Amino acid sequence: MTDPSKFKVIDRRDFVTRGCGVFAVCLTAPLWTLLGGCTASGNAENAGPLKLVLAELPLNRRVRIEHDGRAVEVVRTADGVTARSLLCTHQGCNVRWIESRQIYLCPCHEGKFNAEGQPTYGPPRDPLREIDVTVTETQVIIG
Ligand code: FES
Repeated sequence: MTDPSKFKVIDRRDFVTRGCGVFAVCLTAPLWTLLGGCTASGNAENAGPLKLVLAELPLNRRVRIEHDGRAVEVVRTADGVTARSLLCTHQGCNVRWIESRQIYLCPCHEGKFNAEGQPTYGPPRDPLREIDVTVTETQVIIG
């Protein structure tokens, strides 16, 4: 038989206070998940370099690559290889290249960037970020 003296008696005020705390945690759980997602995305900035096989990169085409949850555009030309972050410089949404309009479009607040990554419309003030590229005989190392 269980000894009733081992249980702590809580009064009605304690019960309501603790109940509200649990209820508040349950209500805000989606928010914490969302914030956690943002933090994780921010940490991906420190992800290791992206390594590609040089021979597999097509010439003169914008290649979109997802790397640790972030979009990067890689372009190989006769002059070399360049890479650009596709994270909008306003609040970090992934921009999309619209070939027919020759712009990068951000779906979050309709920010636009020209083909060189310069902001042309909306809230972004800074250009899309260029990323360092190292090209070896067989590899392209980005970041
Ligand atoms: S996040 Fe791109 S315009 Fe706001």
